[in-house]
Parts: sequence; C-alpha cells; structure tokens
Amino acid sequence: MLNKKTIDDIDVKGKVVLLRCDFNVPMKDGVITDDTRIEAALPTIAKLSGDGGRVMICSHLGKPKGKVDESLTLAPVAERLSELLGQEVLFLKDNEVVGAHAKWFKYNMTEGQVVLLENTRFRPEEEKNEDSFSQELASLADVYVNDAFGTAHRAHCSTVGVTKFVKETAVGYLMEKELNFLGNAVDDPVRPFAAVLGGSKVSSKISVIDNLLEKVDILIIGGGMAYTFVKSQGGHVGLSLVEDDYLQYARDMIQKAKEKNVKLLFTKDIVVAPEISDDAPFQTVDVMNIPDDLMGVDIGEKTIEMFSEALKEAKTVIWNGPMGVFEVPNFSKGTKAIAAAIADLDAITIIGGGDSAAAAIQLGFSDKMTHISTGGGASLEFLEGKELPGVTAIADK
Ligand code: 3PG
Repeated sequence: MLNKKTIDDIDVKGKVVLLRCDFNVPMKDGVITDDTRIEAALPTIAKLSGDGGRVMICSHLGKPKGKVDESLTLAPVAERLSELLGQEVLFLKDNEVVGAHAKWFKYNMTEGQVVLLENTRFRPEEEKNEDSFSQELASLADVYVNDAFGTAHRAHCSTVGVTKFVKETAVGYLMEKELNFLGNAVDDPVRPFAAVLGGSKVSSKISVIDNLLEKVDILIIGGGMAYTFVKSQGGHVGLSLVEDDYLQYARDMIQKAKEKNVKLLFTKDIVVAPEISDDAPFQTVDVMNIPDDLMGVDIGEKTIEMFSEALKEAKTVIWNGPMGVFEVPNFSKGTKAIAAAIADLDAITIIGGGDSAAAAIQLGFSDKMTHISTGGGASLEFLEGKELPGVTAIADK
C-alpha cells in the first residue's frame, strides 16, 4: 500500500490548494478528442472543492518548449472540465502562468471554487525544474496536491520543485489508485502473473523486460519487438523492424527466462505485407521465414490462439503495447483479439497507458478491465522498477 499522504489525510477547508493534474489531452484543431484524463481527475477535484478548498489547478499541455503557443492553451480544457464537473471552472489567462489573475484569485476565491491556470510549459523554467518558477507556483498555495500520474516520471517545477516550498503536500485519488493497482500487481501479484508486451522497439522496453522477468510467471512478447527476438534465434525476418544492436540482449533475456523458470512466448505465425497501408495485400507466414520483400505487421491466428490459451491460466495480467500496427484496420486483428482475450479473463487485468490503453478504450473494453492507466511513459517507468520523482517528492504518511 502507498505510504504517501493522500487527500484523505489533510484538511483543506478555506485553504488554497494547488492541484497538479495531467491534462495533456489529445487535441485536433483546438478540440479535445479524448477526455479520459479529465474524467479521471474529477474525484479529486470534487473532493477538494466539496471539502471547502479553494482549488487552483495547473497542468502542462503538449511541448511548447518554454514559449507561449496559443494552440496549446488550456482554455478548451477549462471548458470541458466545467461541463464534466457540473461547476464553472474559470480559466485564468496569464501567459506567465502565475500572473495578475492567479495572484488576485489567491486572495479572492470562494471556498469550493475551482480555477485553472495556463499551460505550465509556457514557462521556460518548468522542464528545467528551476526554483524561481517553483517558488512562484508555491506562493499561490497553502497545500500542494499531485494527481498527475501521467507526468509523475517528470521532475519539473509543477511536479517536484514546488514541493520544496509548500509545507503540506499529498497525492490525489487518481495518483493513489494508479500506484496501488500497478504496485500491487507488480510487487504482490495474485499468481500466475502474466505480462503481455508489444510495441515496436525492444530498445524502449529493455528495462521493462529485464524487471518483469524477475516477477512474472508468463511473459508474452508480440508486436514489432518480437522480430529482434526472432532474428536472435536465427529466424529470417524480411523487411520487419529489427534492432540489430539488441540481438545479444534478446538472447540474454531468453536465457534469463529459462533460469527464472518464466514461460516466455513469442509470435509463431505472422501477418506480413509489403508496406504499412490498408490497401496492401497481406498473408500469414511462419515467423521464422518471412520473405525478403515483406514485413511483419500483426500476429497470426495460431499466435492469437497460443497467447490466449496461455493467458487463461493467469490471475494477474499487465498489458503494455499493441500486437501489430493496429492503427491500420487490416493489421489490427491481433491487438483486438488479445484485448478481447484479456477482457474475458477472470483475473486482475491492468492496461499500461499509451497505445494499449487507447486500443482497449477504442475497442470498447474499458469496463471489462480492472484498471486502465492514464500514464504512458509513467506506467512504463513504473514497470521498469524506477522511482517516480513526482511521487517521491510528496510527504510520507
Ligand atoms: C504523457 O502524455 O505521457 C504525459 O503527459 C507526459 O508528457 P511528456 O511526455 O510531454 O512529458
């Protein structure tokens, strides 16, 4: 269980609470295309506001690189948040984030009122975690609450620096929930414990594979990552994505799995195509013999069956990374089938953020999973066994 102070351990009545959320939501032409992260923050906001806190929310959006970029203003988020919360959330349009509006509201907000500051990454100090901006943020607040699990792996002013200058700190309900689900699954899993890893690159999942091999009973590797493993075993991978620098690493991991008695499963058959396009012709071949002019784009039927069968015995499953190029409808079958197989299990099922979370949500399986993380990079770093600086910075219970 989490040993950090939570919002249940603090009294916020009449106090200004600076609440860090992760409202880094996908947008197209100024319109929010997925508000999962805003929804996920509602319980914390409602609790702080309901308890009489004066709630000032801050967040980053995108990568404006320390400059004001109007296409990355948080104004649309304030609007959507007001709708979802059922209460007006005023947007404080200070391009310097802590400006005249924020300073005025610090003294003039009513109990229960909620306001949103401008994008913290409009300030050049934010990503450098410089004290000057951390102090400005802290000067607004009596209490600091971090509920931004998706940004907990970043040591920035609004996630870490600010905690040095505010007396009272705590995590919000979303942060608590994410850490409890991921933490219990990894450190105290109901066994058998299976991890399903996909995505395109071994290099980006090296530490995850290494760390999880210490903990899981079953490790399933699909997606683009599998081809490096296949080649390391003498397979012919055609045009498939391979990281030649990681062939020895792949062999070492296969050896480690044997030593640790972990059932390690790879792709058996594979859907191949000459290019990544929905118009491309495709066929299924043995993964060890992919023709020279074709590339692997999805797992095949036999692999789907093998992975699904292996998962049936699992009591805890963590899934991170799609099984193929699931954005292309013809190559999304494997990812859909594995999502469906996981959704059907009588097990604790946890989906790491990013692409696999997006896939599970798009495919309509959200309600069937135990937990879908709102953090892509953060959940990956958690699975690597790393400390998350945004969590470490919060006071212990
Ligand atoms: C995310 O979407 O993963 C987080 O909001 C962190 O964003 P970043 O990768 O731009 O730091």
